[in-house]
Amino acid sequence: MKFLPILLATLGTVSAADFKKDIQPIFEKNCYECHSQKTGKKKAGYVFDDLETLKLDINPKGVVVPGDPGESHLFTVISDESHKAHMPPDDNLSKDDIEKIRDWITEGAGLTKDVPKLKAIAGARKKDLPPIMTWINFEGKKIKAGFVRLEGENVILRMPANSQEVPYPLNKLDAASQLQARDSAQ
Ligand code: HEC
Repeated sequence: MKFLPILLATLGTVSAADFKKDIQPIFEKNCYECHSQKTGKKKAGYVFDDLETLKLDINPKGVVVPGDPGESHLFTVISDESHKAHMPPDDNLSKDDIEKIRDWITEGAGLTKDVPKLKAIAGARKKDLPPIMTWINFEGKKIKAGFVRLEGENVILRMPANSQEVPYPLNKLDAASQLQARDSAQ
């Protein structure tokens, strides 16, 4: 079921999470105290106020895996109360906040992207977007997305619904789709 969140992201929702409006205030209230440039506390190396730094932790091997809350360690520690590194340490986020973070990750964990605006831009520039192709992962699930580029062990796919770029590990695609990625990169 690993692929489902990305498929859902592809479908896109109108009420997309907006990082600045919906997510940053949750981090500010509950996490900055121990994880921010502002306070100078960078527990476990994570800061949530400096977006350039936070961005480095958002990738398929990072603490936030775009499109996949289940694989995102950050989501595990806020949602699993019994986790030994449960965050925040002596408190729990509200159910509502946890859901907002889950939705934000599912939708691609963008930091600056205002999705409705992006949709308008995507609509206006549709002809510039890469053609939509069908990709099949190793579980046989299909995804429709444009090829952007190869980046290390990932193929960067562009989701047609919201135009977000989502890295997807090549080794999770079936052989034909891996070939399609490599061919597209030529
Ligand atoms: C009172 C201080 C404090 C607050 C508040 C806090 N953290 Fe932490 N955080 C820590 C400490 C200390 C560690 C490293 C030790 C550990 O793993 O428990 C850590 C580690 C982490 C890790 C790595 C977990 C691991 O397995 O090593 C993540 C991810 C994280 N915090 C996210 C958050 C998020 C998201 C919030 C807000 C919802 C938050 N933290 C709030 C102190 C805090």
